[in-house]
Amino acid sequence: MKKGLFITFEGGEGCGKSTQVRLFKEYVSSLANKDDFVFIREPGGTGLGEKIRQLLLGDQQDPPVPMAELLLFCASRAQIVEEVIRPALNEGKIVVADRFIDSTIAYQSCARGILSPENVKKLHEMFMPSLKPDITFYLRITPAEAFARKKDDVFDRMELEGLSFHEKVLAGYDSIASTEPERIKVIDATKSIEEIHKSIIGIFENKVNQIEITNNESRF
Ligand SMILES: Nc1ncnc2c1ncn2[C@@H]1O[C@H](COP(=O)(O)OP(=O)(O)O)[C@@H](O)[C@H]1O
Ligand SMILES: [Mg+2]
Repeated sequence: MKKGLFITFEGGEGCGKSTQVRLFKEYVSSLANKDDFVFIREPGGTGLGEKIRQLLLGDQQDPPVPMAELLLFCASRAQIVEEVIRPALNEGKIVVADRFIDSTIAYQSCARGILSPENVKKLHEMFMPSLKPDITFYLRITPAEAFARKKDDVFDRMELEGLSFHEKVLAGYDSIASTEPERIKVIDATKSIEEIHKSIIGIFENKVNQIEITNNESRF
């Protein structure tokens, strides 16, 4: 069976994930195999997932209790894993996600303390056994620097949390990155948009070359 490649973009609010995913998409559009790429966002990305996204990020009148929040993220993820991610990877495609499991560990576990990181991982192992990103771009920036960039934007429910919450998110990501240095590529997100884009493309192309050497075939 062909095995695809699963790439995720992670980091706190305003670190530049959506900007970099958009630039990555532009880069992909010039590749010969551009149809092999599937872009998704979390939470959302399926009919059900987009409704869950609204429940999580939209309505501040009726916010979920912390455990409901965690389970809603997981419900959205379970749906997209079965509907989109696994089928695409089984066809040998490259799936690119704006947020995935590390967001749940950083936000709901490390920042909110709902479940330990180990239990979040166990829960995921139940609904998405042995599915893990191959490369994760962690765009690292302090919340103070990131929020200075977003000051004119409309804020969603997560973004409205205080600075100390986002400091815990940062610490959470740092701890995940230190335990999985092979998978997680820490990118200095204070650099210019173009510099960050270039380093992301460099890491991506290296990974693709490695896969080609290992498989001894050219898929890309
Ligand atoms: N490297 C960068 N330097 C300066 N501003 C940036 C950089 N990357 C993103 N931005 C700006 O910061 C804001 C948040 O970026 P965005 O990509 O929406 O972050 P995220 O999706 O991680 O919340 C946007 O206004 C964006 O144009
Ligand atoms: Mg974004």
